[in-house]
Amino acid sequence: MHLLILGSVLLLPLVIGHSLGAPSFSIDYKNDCFRKDGEVFRYISGSIHYSRIPRVYWKDRLLKMYMAGLNAIQTYIPWNYHEESPGRYSFSGDRDVEHFLQLAKDIGFLVILRPGPYICAEWDMGGLPAWLLKKDDIVLRSSDADYIAAVDKWMGTLLPMMKPFLYQNGGPIITVQVENEYGSYFACDYNYLRHLSTLFRSHLGDDAVLFTTDGAGAGYLKCGSLQGLYATVDFGPGGNVTAAFEAQRCAEPHGPLVNSEFYTGWLDHWGSPHSVVPAALVAKSLNEILAVGASVNLYMFIGGTNFGYWNGANWPYGPQPTSYDYDAPLTEAGDLTEKYFAIREVIKLYRKIPEGPIPPTTPKYAYGTVVLKKLQTIPDALENLSFSGPVKSMYPQTFVELNQAFGYVLYRTALPFNCSAPTPLSSPLNGIHDRAYVSVEGVAVGILERDKALTVNVSGKAGSQLDILVENMGRINYGKYINDFKGLVSNMTLGSDMLRGWTMYSLSIDEAIREGLLGEMTPTDESQPAALALPTFYQGSFIIPEGIPDLPQDTYINLPEWRKGHVWINGFNLGRYWPSRGPQVTLFVPASVLSSAAPNNVTVLELEEAPCSSGPCGVEFISTPILNATVQFNRHQHRRLFNKEDLL
Ligand SMILES: *[C@@H]1O[C@H](CO)[C@@H](O)[C@H](O)[C@H]1NC(C)=O
Ligand SMILES: *[C@@H]1O[C@H](CO)[C@@H](O)[C@H](O)[C@H]1NC(C)=O
Ligand SMILES: *[C@@H]1O[C@H](CO)[C@@H](O)[C@H](O)[C@H]1NC(C)=O
Ligand SMILES: *[C@@H]1O[C@H](CO)[C@@H](O)[C@H](O)[C@H]1NC(C)=O
Ligand SMILES: *[C@@H]1O[C@H](CO)[C@@H](O)[C@H](O)[C@H]1NC(C)=O
Ligand SMILES: *[C@@H]1O[C@H](CO)[C@@H](O)[C@H](O)[C@H]1NC(C)=O
Ligand SMILES: *[C@@H]1O[C@H](CO)[C@@H](O)[C@H](O)[C@H]1NC(C)=O
Repeated sequence: MHLLILGSVLLLPLVIGHSLGAPSFSIDYKNDCFRKDGEVFRYISGSIHYSRIPRVYWKDRLLKMYMAGLNAIQTYIPWNYHEESPGRYSFSGDRDVEHFLQLAKDIGFLVILRPGPYICAEWDMGGLPAWLLKKDDIVLRSSDADYIAAVDKWMGTLLPMMKPFLYQNGGPIITVQVENEYGSYFACDYNYLRHLSTLFRSHLGDDAVLFTTDGAGAGYLKCGSLQGLYATVDFGPGGNVTAAFEAQRCAEPHGPLVNSEFYTGWLDHWGSPHSVVPAALVAKSLNEILAVGASVNLYMFIGGTNFGYWNGANWPYGPQPTSYDYDAPLTEAGDLTEKYFAIREVIKLYRKIPEGPIPPTTPKYAYGTVVLKKLQTIPDALENLSFSGPVKSMYPQTFVELNQAFGYVLYRTALPFNCSAPTPLSSPLNGIHDRAYVSVEGVAVGILERDKALTVNVSGKAGSQLDILVENMGRINYGKYINDFKGLVSNMTLGSDMLRGWTMYSLSIDEAIREGLLGEMTPTDESQPAALALPTFYQGSFIIPEGIPDLPQDTYINLPEWRKGHVWINGFNLGRYWPSRGPQVTLFVPASVLSSAAPNNVTVLELEEAPCSSGPCGVEFISTPILNATVQFNRHQHRRLFNKEDLL
């Protein structure tokens, strides 16, 4: 009796202390769970990358995720999105990660933060800035002194910004991931992981829960986990959940079970069929994961879009398309799917789902056909596209040597001898990174492509101008070939001679379009349409119709019979189109880039040949996406197992 009273008296201040005291989040190794403010806790989270969604849509997507019954979200922070050149940081507009975190918190979410420095994510170079390659033998993701110096500087900027958002500081962030799937990387450098662990601790404090994520296999966990960082695993649906978590237990005999990336869908590559993972399979495995009491993050809950040049690539070189729809429960455009409701039904078995209406699918509008007129070719507009002016050198320089991260560089030289018969122009060391549009004296003669087409025949007189416009199609984001230099990365040969004496033009196409510097074409004799044309700009405009409520709305741009290139609307770079390769055909156009106040300007850079030899060039705005058209190449078709192993 006395003891009981004494007990209550003693307990009371503790309980009050908890509810009034500082919020806490921790791992309870004794009871194999997380603890939030002292209570047993597990999360059911979904991945959303703010960098793949226009800012105005963050709230809509987050609300839909909330209504699905999730209690947390997970996001990556792509370093190269925020530090495009050394020391120049960008955290505003679509890059305002603090606003994103605040929004998540206001909606009622906890946050699992994945700040890298490497993130993979099917994002250019796995989120690492290309300027790191200025030291050409840098060993990324290792103790390499120059790499570490850059990481320290970046994390010294980012992590102090994140600190107030930690749960224990009143914010939404419950856990912070260090690196990403490091056990899949060849370097296996424990000193690097140890350095990151110390660095993260020094900025975030001793009570931050730091973790790692690796494939669910002892082999991955060996190099990916480290004392002091809680080891979690990732695995997709359809497998043996018990066996997958047994792998986690090899590294963490105690603590909560966590699948940090449960794949709701899968990525795409240009030239491979669109990935589709059945909703029923996802629901079944999710149920199994939740039934064992594990915490889980659904990767992706909404994939979004690789706008601009942000897509990555896998090796052997296979770039990812513009859409990152991922066959996720919310589509690229944030639409509710059958998979969304299937997942919601499963979550309902374990957690109370918030009441109230789910924000509806945003309406799409078919604005119809827009006729484009031909503007200049790239060589015609060169003066206005190459802001930094040409660079001359004996041998070709790479993008990073030219201080160009993304897009296009024009390499120009002259034929050194008479090529009266077709003479092979080659990249014997497979150094076209990644695709090149070749012309002689202003006439398109062929296309070279990394791994696929290393030779094209040219003819012409000695001294003829040889132009090779090289496109960076996205840097490798996974595996050991992430030092992915762009441009002409080895010498070109003509016949048996090595070409010398290059003039290189870094192109600032996005800036030129925004500043309206492209002129109309100079009329030429177009009597005979060619199979291939010089890379050329096209432009047209359309007006948002009046009298229809709620316009502008989202739409999709379809470029029937256009071949390959980029589209901008009002200067916003929507990304690459390549319908001839597939599987993606249409590009998502968020309403936020459209204007009702002025005509909307559509600019297309067609790299191969526009379909306008007999009549006007048209693009059309339609109300449904096409992401699964038949593909021209399908040599990666074997990668269909929805596992990280498939990407090796
Ligand atoms: C799943 O894995 C566990 C542990 O490895 C094993 O005991 C069980 O038989 C497996 N289940 C199936 C259906 O293969
Ligand atoms: C190329 O051929 C022309 C005649 O077609 C000739 O006049 C010229 O000398 C040749 N140049 C070289 C470098 O062989
Ligand atoms: C180049 O021309 C030669 C001779 O005409 C021909 O044998 C060869 O196939 C051609 N190569 C390419 C890549 O077109
Ligand atoms: C081109 O060849 C020259 C001479 O062999 C060499 O010095 C140079 O590094 C090569 N350039 C590239 C980009 O491979
Ligand atoms: C560059 O842009 C300016 C301004 O629009 C224009 O006057 C000029 O003709 C352009 N130069 C070329 C080569 O198109
Ligand atoms: C489209 O371009 C025209 C002409 O430069 C300009 O007046 C108009 O404001 C642009 N539209 C938008 C929405 O920016
Ligand atoms: C593409 O997706 C649509 C919509 O999901 C579907 O109706 C169609 O059958 C699919 N086409 C192919 C070729 O898979």
